[in-house]
Amino acid sequence: MSDRLAGIRQEILDGISQLSSSRAVYEFKKKFMDSKTGKIGQLMKEMKTIAPEERASFGKGVNELKEWANRRFDELDEKMRARELQRRYESEKIDVTMPAEMAETGNLHPITQTRNQLIDVFAGMGFEIFEPKEIENDYYNFTALNTPKDHPARDMQDTFYLSPDFLLATQTSAAQIHAMETRELPIKMLAPGKVFRSDDDATHSPMFHQMEGLVVDKKITLCDLKGMLDMFVKKMYGEGTTTRLRPSYFPFTEPSVEVDVSCFECGGKGCKLCKGTGWIEILGAGIVNKKVLENCGIDSEEYSGLAFGIGIERVAMLKYGIDNIKLLFESDLRVLRQIDDN
Ligand code: PHE
Repeated sequence: MSDRLAGIRQEILDGISQLSSSRAVYEFKKKFMDSKTGKIGQLMKEMKTIAPEERASFGKGVNELKEWANRRFDELDEKMRARELQRRYESEKIDVTMPAEMAETGNLHPITQTRNQLIDVFAGMGFEIFEPKEIENDYYNFTALNTPKDHPARDMQDTFYLSPDFLLATQTSAAQIHAMETRELPIKMLAPGKVFRSDDDATHSPMFHQMEGLVVDKKITLCDLKGMLDMFVKKMYGEGTTTRLRPSYFPFTEPSVEVDVSCFECGGKGCKLCKGTGWIEILGAGIVNKKVLENCGIDSEEYSGLAFGIGIERVAMLKYGIDNIKLLFESDLRVLRQIDDN
């Protein structure tokens, strides 16, 4: 019997030297120690078949073997685990002096940046934002703006009609009517939105952005308009910039003006940007036509208004020196990355 025990002991010693991981130690240990299938476990079961006089020394021998084996396995297990932990530490070692991987951040689109700057300027003067619609009906886009169906001014804007009555908004001016119909007086609103015209060249795109401004109150005059626009161009293009108003025509404003900004490139001397004139056309504006106020149920004897419509792409192109509007719509990161004012 003691030969058998010695054999098992030898088997363990031989096996142990081959083991190289804690997992292998665990498996190898099970082969001996498992109470049902393990070699030592089985010896314990054999107890009852042993002659009574030998039982005590057999039991003692098995127990000694068991304790010895357990110690071997525990020692080895501890060694293996320490080695494995060490290996893990080494493989996961972090070099804290290494430069961090930078997360790439994008920037807002130039049109969004420009829109936000415009909003900032006018919000500072007390304007509230009013959301224009992209699909309008004929009444809001034209008729209520004093541009009835047979009016020649409809030719100024090449309209995309969806049906005889519905169309893609050609101007944010439609928001003037919605604001006057729904807001309490006085009104001071800014409506930034998308507009659509069948028009396509280096400075025109079938879809572009406008920002409508509308003020309706008692005693509003062209001076208020000029004052606000002067403030706007100074904030947008620099302190030295001013505006000049030229007579123009829009059906919904009377008088109507075309607003020029003094050339911020050459300071008015004349250059390529201002085509030698010292002035750059920047927006359309005017005093709200009395007919428009009346179409919205506003007493035109008591109230008057001013309105302006700014082309956001135009402001952005002038500000960032972009000569083709398409650059703003091509999503070319080489262009977009250069414009980051926020
Ligand atoms: N809606 C006009 C346009 O699109 C601009 C404008 C707005 C003019 C408000 C006067 C007043 O050209």
